[in-house]
Formats: sequence, C-alpha cells, structure tokens
Amino acid sequence: MSRVVVTGRIPETAIEKLRAEHDVHAWTGSESIGREELLHRVAGADAVVSLLTERIDAELLDAAGPQLKVVANVAVGYDNIDVPACTERGIVATNTPGVLTEATADIAMGLVLMATRRLGEGERLIRSRQAWKWGMFFLLGSSLQGKTLGVVGMGGIGQATARRAKAFGMDIVYQSRSELDPVIAAELGARRVDLDELLTVSDVVSLHCPYGPATHHLIGAEQLAAMKSSAFLVNTARGPIVDETALASALREGVIAGAGLDVFEREPQVHPALLDLENVVLVPHLGSATVETRTAMAMLAADNALAVLSGEQPPAPIN
Ligand code: GLV
Ligand code: GLV
Repeated sequence: MSRVVVTGRIPETAIEKLRAEHDVHAWTGSESIGREELLHRVAGADAVVSLLTERIDAELLDAAGPQLKVVANVAVGYDNIDVPACTERGIVATNTPGVLTEATADIAMGLVLMATRRLGEGERLIRSRQAWKWGMFFLLGSSLQGKTLGVVGMGGIGQATARRAKAFGMDIVYQSRSELDPVIAAELGARRVDLDELLTVSDVVSLHCPYGPATHHLIGAEQLAAMKSSAFLVNTARGPIVDETALASALREGVIAGAGLDVFEREPQVHPALLDLENVVLVPHLGSATVETRTAMAMLAADNALAVLSGEQPPAPIN
C-alpha cells in the first residue's frame, strides 16, 4: 500500500480505482486546498494526483519526501508543474492528453461562434430587459463561411478545432513546431505558415499551444496590430500566452474586432478592462468541463499514478 495524495476533488470512480490498491488521502473541500495545508498533507506521499490549481514545485516535492515517485496532473497542460525539478529527483510527471481534445475543441468553436455572431451581447441585452426587435441591421456579426482560421499550435486540440472550423466552411492555416502528418493536412486542407503570415491572413486566430517561457505573451500589442481589424482572437489554451492589457486596448480601439477567452492571465481574476467591453466573450476555464471528459481525465491520471507505483511505464509520461 502506497500513500496517494489527491490535491482536490476528482470524480469518485477514479478515487475508488486508486483506493482499491492504495491508501488514498483526497482533499474534499469545496475551495482549493491552501498551500500550507497541501505542504503538510503531501508529506510521506508516494504519489500526488494534482489539479492545475496547485503549484507543484521544488518546495512541494521536498515537503513530500524522497519516496515520492509520481506526480499525476489531472490536465493536459502542466505549466503548474516544475518538470525539471521532478526529473532531478527521479519523479515521473504525467498529464492527460487526448481525453479532453474534443471537449476543448468544442469550447474553442463555441467561442468562435459566440464572438463572431455576438451571442454574448444578445444574451446580455435580453437579460437587461431592454426592448429589442428584429432589424435588418440589428447586432450584425461576421460569417465564417469562406473565412480563414489560423491555428496556433497544431496538436490534438488544434487539429480537432480545425476539423470543426472546416465543417463551418473555413479554410485552415496553422503554425506549429512540426509539420502535420500529410494525410491529416490534406484532409483538413491545412497549410503551414509562420506566425506573422498567420496573423495577417486569418479572420479568426485560435490558440492551442502549451504555455511556457517560449509562449509567454506570444500575442501582444505588435501581434494584435498585425491582425486584420475585422479579425477575432480565441484563447482556450493558457491565459498568459496573451498580453491581456494589450488585448483589452486592441479590443477597445478596434485594432481587432473581437475575442473569446476561456483562460486568463491571473485566474480566477479577469483583467478589469475586459469586463467593460462588449466585444469579448468571457467564460471561466470550461475547456474540459464535461462530466464525461472530467471522468476520463481523472481515470487517466489514476492509471498514470497506478502504473508508476507498480513499476510500470505510465500511459502519459511528460518526462
Ligand atoms: C485544462 O486546462 C487542461 O490543461 O487540462
Ligand atoms: C491534446 O490532447 C493535445 O495534444 O493538443
């Protein structure tokens, strides 16, 4: 029996799976676990199953102790984990790729539709109880048919978003570290370009790259200025990929037409300037938030932890 510490609430099926073999200590508070409490609880853990709201750094790994073998993040993104610090200590870090790809692409496409068709504005108008009626020029948005989607980061989620956009009649360009599999590229009709060209030609730019030093403020004032004034920006990846202050100015001054954001620079805070703008859709980090997807993520994280604890290769290692 190993000690498994789970840093927040996860679906019960995953807890049961872990509990069948190990001694499981799961934080069950409705609020995120506090840092001091977390440092105290991880002491003696052989496995830590972590949520993206918890920072897994050298201090935490040391508080756990030298017996710690695995950190299993219940997320595909792992910017909350200091992976080199895990590697140095011989700790395996894992994530949950694949299982949340379709759910996150759904939210990306949802934000594209909401932003281009002004659905948030329409909803707010009705709920404000103001009078409204159908009009030839009332709340006109932009069509997607024949427009170009620029996908920044063509991993699983970028590809799944491109597939949806293609079904809406959009052409696809993408920027990625590696060339797409030619069969998939042909199926999507996707053309690889550099970021400068992508920003210039796209009517909608959707971000799907990981967050790290290389992508911090990848989209700032200069990049927004390079976009068409009729274009939209959608971010379902990580908040700090976008300079939120620059985005708020660009939206206010008409440098771009609109945006849809599922992630923010300083979650759960949202830049106050964004809250005052009509042309940005704001949703609270819901990319993977379906019952099915969260269950699959928790089960994959449990499988990752269980594999390492029994000396096997986990399904989704990071390091
Ligand atoms: C969610 O944001 C994830 O990275 O899984
Ligand atoms: C998600 O699974 C991705 O690799 O983009």
